[in-house]
Amino acid sequence: MSIKKNDIYQVKVTDSGFKGEGIAKIDDLVIFIPGAIKDEVLKIKILKVLSTHAFAKIEEIIKSAKCRQKDECEIYEKCGGCAMRHIEYKETLEMKKQSVETTLKKQGIDAKVKDIIGMDTPIYYRNKLQYPIGKDIDGTPVMGIFAERTHRIIPTEKCYIQNERLQEIANKIFEFIKDNKIPVYNEMKLSGEIRHLVLRVGIKTNDVMVTIVTNKKKITKEKELVKFITENFPDVKTIVKNINDFNTNVILGEKNVILFGDGYIYDELLGYKFKISPMSFYQVNPIQTEKLYSKAIEYANLTGKETVFDLYCGIGTIGICASKNVKKLYGIETIHEAIEDAKINALENEIKNAEFFVGDVEKALPEFIEKNNIKPDVIFIDPPRKGCERVAIETILKIEANRIVYVSCNPATLARDLKMLSEKYNIEEVTPVDMFPYTSHVECVAVLNLK
Ligand SMILES: C[S@@+](CC[C@H](N)C(=O)[O-])C[C@H]1O[C@@H](n2cnc3c(N)ncnc32)[C@H](O)[C@@H]1O
Repeated sequence: MSIKKNDIYQVKVTDSGFKGEGIAKIDDLVIFIPGAIKDEVLKIKILKVLSTHAFAKIEEIIKSAKCRQKDECEIYEKCGGCAMRHIEYKETLEMKKQSVETTLKKQGIDAKVKDIIGMDTPIYYRNKLQYPIGKDIDGTPVMGIFAERTHRIIPTEKCYIQNERLQEIANKIFEFIKDNKIPVYNEMKLSGEIRHLVLRVGIKTNDVMVTIVTNKKKITKEKELVKFITENFPDVKTIVKNINDFNTNVILGEKNVILFGDGYIYDELLGYKFKISPMSFYQVNPIQTEKLYSKAIEYANLTGKETVFDLYCGIGTIGICASKNVKKLYGIETIHEAIEDAKINALENEIKNAEFFVGDVEKALPEFIEKNNIKPDVIFIDPPRKGCERVAIETILKIEANRIVYVSCNPATLARDLKMLSEKYNIEEVTPVDMFPYTSHVECVAVLNLK
């Protein structure tokens, strides 16, 4: 059968994809259908046909899945943030667990995957808001979330996964920008000023940091803008101007100018206080972060006698949370500012057994081992989405630590790296953690023992 664009078919959805979409087959062609759920019977319209698969949209739901739910979010269908709001939360957890199992199996990894650790109240969980600001087709300023795979900004005044206070402050700042005609960024002409608002909150301290990302060194009515924010929002403890005049998708530029306060805020995790700077990574769902770190620390099985490496350590959070049962802790991280924060975090939490170093793991780790002749007993690994560079895995294999605890926000790169590590390690167990409810993303923590 030759399947063409705009053809209409009736299909049964037989599987779920990694992005939360439903999958059906017509003859042998795999059809991806966003918004569809396994076991549903649908009338679909073909949108695009490629050699190995096709994409379709739902025209009519003939038989609905039991777990389908109505969602209150008005922009869900347009925005590229969530992918699973039409599915009951409990079912999304099951789907995420299964997708982790499938991804690991594809790499031949037969580890036990435990039940996913879900969120009790999966709403308003993000502690970081980052909204692009630009113009819509009429030239009207707009702030919101990019539509999936585009740079079209969907106006966003309410978001069900975003901290409500941050949303409220961002809405008011945006109103001020519009009312005072502060030029917003034009991506096509590379003109204008305000590119992004990035707001962070420490959910235990209620401290808010506002970072205004701008294309120009000076913001029009800068003083008035700062006065407006500080007078109206006493919980804003610092305002930072971030200058980004590069024509890329990267949100933050390299230069920060503090406009108000100290340039950082604090939050707390598992009883430890953490200083967070604008450039430093900090997990976006702090409620789930405590569960993730607790699982990672449980997997590390520390007795107080171990030398521990915290690789890709950010501001030192995992290592510091584990430090009371550690003999000596070493952290490595590429962002200089994050390491400065990690050192202060150790000092302010009165942790005397930790040292932190700036560097790329792939280079800094072998150099550190050679120079200091230190062999860790336990290694925490928590790389970015792309996982570890091959050379980093090769170094880790040479070190032969007794145990590795691998934290990952990308099951595909986790599976790839675990496969390489399985040369010398038993992959004992993997626990998925729902750090990003209703999106298709899933975090995992895996424990590996030296064979
Ligand atoms: C997923 S975050 C984890 C940070 C920290 N463990 C936490 O839980 O907050 C990954 C970190 O790796 C850092 N990073 C990225 N590439 C790196 C590299 N090649 N070497 C060292 N650190 C790197 C990033 O700056 C980021 O802080």
